[in-house]
Amino acid sequence: MVSVVGDEFAEQIARKLDFTYHVLERRIFPDGEVCPRIVLNGEPLDSEVFFILRPKPSQDLNSYLVEFLITLRNLRKRVKRIHAVMPYMIYARQDATFRRGEPLSSKIIAELIAESGADSFSTINMHLHRIEDIASFVSNMTVSNLSAIPYLAHSIEKNFDLHEPFVLGPDDEALQWAKEFAKCLNVHSYEAMHKERDPVTGEIKTELPDLELSGRDLIIIDDIISTGGTMINAVQKVRKKDVASIIATVVHPVLTNDALEALKTLDLRGVCTTNTIPSPLNQIDVTPLIVEEIKKKREKEKEP
Ligand code: R5P
Repeated sequence: MVSVVGDEFAEQIARKLDFTYHVLERRIFPDGEVCPRIVLNGEPLDSEVFFILRPKPSQDLNSYLVEFLITLRNLRKRVKRIHAVMPYMIYARQDATFRRGEPLSSKIIAELIAESGADSFSTINMHLHRIEDIASFVSNMTVSNLSAIPYLAHSIEKNFDLHEPFVLGPDDEALQWAKEFAKCLNVHSYEAMHKERDPVTGEIKTELPDLELSGRDLIIIDDIISTGGTMINAVQKVRKKDVASIIATVVHPVLTNDALEALKTLDLRGVCTTNTIPSPLNQIDVTPLIVEEIKKKREKEKEP
């Protein structure tokens, strides 16, 4: 039998699968230290567990990481098999040593998750830029990188009347998501901007390819909005192209600093994100994506 351990996001998944659910009580002491407790409610944990956890609203991501790792260790002592699900893979953007002396953080975090006890690991649209696959970092944990792009595309298609849509990635890396999104809309109109970020100041410089966008409904797609700088820059550039409307969409609403307020001032037709991280923005539910992944894993395990 299988149990699910985690937050209210995990609970929704457990309910859809009819699995036993154990809530993770997430106590934070006044000094910031965390004490995540698996509430057993009289029922024992099954030998196989899906551990699914998002950051709490406005939670510091390092505090979330410690909760995640401590819970994996705690589970490891109690169960035989652990499938860890981190809907937004933190530290994934630090996938290179940009400056001498920096750590390769994304690899270190993947190793910590594996060493803490995860037999398998699933995440959604992990920022894969300079590395092809997180699995290349860790050999002792199987890894799935799921895509929520079809969820974004189908929701936007359903909720907005799109006229000659054009899908734009705000940097070179986002071309993959623009392409996938355009495919879901059944159009071939997609492209990406070129972006360079100063590794010290974080300042970005971008170039928009010479595109005929006049009168078209533009969708700008990225994996993450963090400070909002990348999205805001892209919106400002395409506004000069006389587009009919602009919808901004990302998988992960990290939303640091004043990103939310800055996005509101852009007067966009829509801002659509998923619920991999709790946020006040429109949240497209990706629990069905994880439910499907769990079903696939279970089927695979039954194979001889
Ligand atoms: C970077 O390559 C990512 O794909 C995003 O474009 C970036 O992380 C967004 O960050 P921000 O909102 O701070 O510009």
